[in-house]
Amino acid sequence: VARQVTCTAPVNIAVVKYWGKRDAKLILPSNSSLSVTLSQDDLHSRTTISLAPTHVTDRMWLNGSECSVPANERLVNCLAAARRHREALEKANPELPRWSTWGIHIGSENNFPTAAGLASSASGYACLVFTLAQVLELPLTGPELSRYARLGSGSACRSIMGGFVAWNMGTQADGTDSQAYQVAPETHWPELEALILVVNDAKKGTSSTVGMQTTVATSALAAHRFTHVVPERMRAMETAIADRDFAQFAELTMQDSNQFHAICLDTYPPIFYMNDTSKAVVHLVTAINRLMPTIQAAYTFDAGPNAVIYAPRDHMTRLLQLFTYFFPAPTDVSTRDFFNDPYARVPEGVVLGRDFPAEYQAVRDTFAVSTPGAVKRIIHTRVGDGPRVLSSP
Ligand code: DP6
Repeated sequence: VARQVTCTAPVNIAVVKYWGKRDAKLILPSNSSLSVTLSQDDLHSRTTISLAPTHVTDRMWLNGSECSVPANERLVNCLAAARRHREALEKANPELPRWSTWGIHIGSENNFPTAAGLASSASGYACLVFTLAQVLELPLTGPELSRYARLGSGSACRSIMGGFVAWNMGTQADGTDSQAYQVAPETHWPELEALILVVNDAKKGTSSTVGMQTTVATSALAAHRFTHVVPERMRAMETAIADRDFAQFAELTMQDSNQFHAICLDTYPPIFYMNDTSKAVVHLVTAINRLMPTIQAAYTFDAGPNAVIYAPRDHMTRLLQLFTYFFPAPTDVSTRDFFNDPYARVPEGVVLGRDFPAEYQAVRDTFAVSTPGAVKRIIHTRVGDGPRVLSSP
């Protein structure tokens, strides 16, 4: 009698950052945000939910080990919201099976290692909520689903859709208008690709949840950002995406990442997420954009030192040459493992990390540092679609 569904959900990386809550329990943000959904073919969370009358309690396994459901308030909130919704449907139609009374077992894993330093809460909660809606047959639209995912983690609400996704902060106290909408599907701008530079840094920083709470309580710059910067930037970003204007998209993305890290520095006590390698990436991308008119790239950093680089597909080979020249692979990682990209786009005869074409000389003159091993791994990916059902009952 058990019902079982398996789904996958993507990671998203914001280009207008969410940082600050106006309601911590409902996870309502202090500003709207906008992100790019990355391809699930490369990075995803995968969740299987089994629903059965014989499951006496709700249980959850994360990457193979069981974790306590009651101890995780956000997980409890997501499950309760989905069950309440199902219960209402059953009340309205007594013919429906009483799935709202059955126990839920959840198995969830990420195909990327935690050691990759990538946040997994966005894809994880998006996948949980999407799978729950499938197994309980909840007739929800994308924006409605995003409100449930939001209860797990704010950024998760943007992983419910593919392509370019905005999270409207909303004004209602109950959060009914704080939901995601798709600005453009992944097919709108398929040439946009991303590199994730995984920076070698074992140190665990301040969690997003605690960090943003301190920022809202102490940063005057954050208050300025919420009211005077983000609303206009959201409009400009939507226009840049609609026009596929990479230069404008890149400038806004880099400025917004810089401002997010500036409000972290303005937080008291201050929060540092970027390290020396992150700063070297900023300098390198700035040098490339200024000195190499044929290559454009945009950097962005979340609550950690890893860089995400957005660039048009045609520029990727040259960017990989530059990044691997200045940040050669650590000697303990094989070149094959260093990229998930099968070198398909690297021109014949070019050895990454070694060849340095003469036309890039100006960049080398400006940026004369090479830091071997500082970038542990490079993941090459692109814009992708929203959650997928892999198998249903
Ligand atoms: C820097 O969504 O992880 O990645 O809502 O407390 O779970 P909670 O925070 P979370 O914060 C993400 C912050 C960010 C920016 C962004 O993704 O917009």
